[in-house]
Amino acid sequence: MKKIPVIMDVDTGIDDAVALILAMSSPQIDLKGVTVVAGNQILEKTLYNTLSVVDYFGSGNIPVAKGASKPLVRDLYFDAATHGESGLGTAQLPPPQIKPHHLDAVDFIRETLENSQEKITLVPVGPLTNIALLLMCYPHVKDKIDKIVMMGGGAFEGNMNAVCEFNLFVDPEAAQVVFDSGVEIVMCGLDITMKSYTTMEDILRIKATGTAAGEFCAEAFGVYYDRYVNNSRLPGCAVHDAVAVTYLLHPEWITSKRANVKVDIEGTETLGQTVCDFRENRIKALDNATVCLDIDREKFIDLLVNACKSCK
Ligand code: RIB
Ligand code: CA
Repeated sequence: MKKIPVIMDVDTGIDDAVALILAMSSPQIDLKGVTVVAGNQILEKTLYNTLSVVDYFGSGNIPVAKGASKPLVRDLYFDAATHGESGLGTAQLPPPQIKPHHLDAVDFIRETLENSQEKITLVPVGPLTNIALLLMCYPHVKDKIDKIVMMGGGAFEGNMNAVCEFNLFVDPEAAQVVFDSGVEIVMCGLDITMKSYTTMEDILRIKATGTAAGEFCAEAFGVYYDRYVNNSRLPGCAVHDAVAVTYLLHPEWITSKRANVKVDIEGTETLGQTVCDFRENRIKALDNATVCLDIDREKFIDLLVNACKSCK
């Protein structure tokens, strides 16, 4: 089986941690490295969380590189209410023994792309600051990017307001750079990720795996589940970031449409919105993204359960 070379960019966070466990436990993925951005928490905490998850659940020396501590032009906005003060809810891991890579996130991605014999898929699941900086500072590496499979945006809904999703809310300017870059985008927005929820029954299945990964995810889902069930229409918590990894592993479980997606950076009520043009009479040559809209949730949950079983 040919492995998929991947670099993930994360703001670990609860669902980022689950996405990392899914990627690291999948034989189909060759995780070349993980870069970190501020988002769910301040960079100090998202970096610590990422080092902890990669060190404890990773199978070897997966590099972790430190990235942007704030958006391109705005101050950092983060919301401790969703992922908790630590960024991982009430879940705890041993202190990481690994240290951040000597290169920062942007230069780590650049160097990895330059040295790779094959194109690499970027999987950003936080604010797109690191990816935007890479594309602006080193446009020559675009030819070495297979595609960008990102978690963020939403064709028909937001979670920060009616139209804007958190990752784009934090850094809309970075998102516009990425969507306008000419690199092929797979957008795993709220349209699909709000269908990727774990019910309490699912969380108990994950816990029943009896592995350290299962225990960790079940514990991390605790406050996250309560937040979603008490504040959204969902009967569980959305595991947003794991959907981006699932697209790589099982695109056949996912329904999507091609579109021309633009990011609004000037609106007062629409700042950060992913404006998706699906019109049949649009100029299809301008399409820049595959917009994911639906997922086979049962299969997605089984994938998470099996990932926890196969992880340590
Ligand atoms: O809107 C959901 C996204 O924001 C996820 O990536 C979650 O981790 C948070 O970063
Ligand atoms: Ca995230």
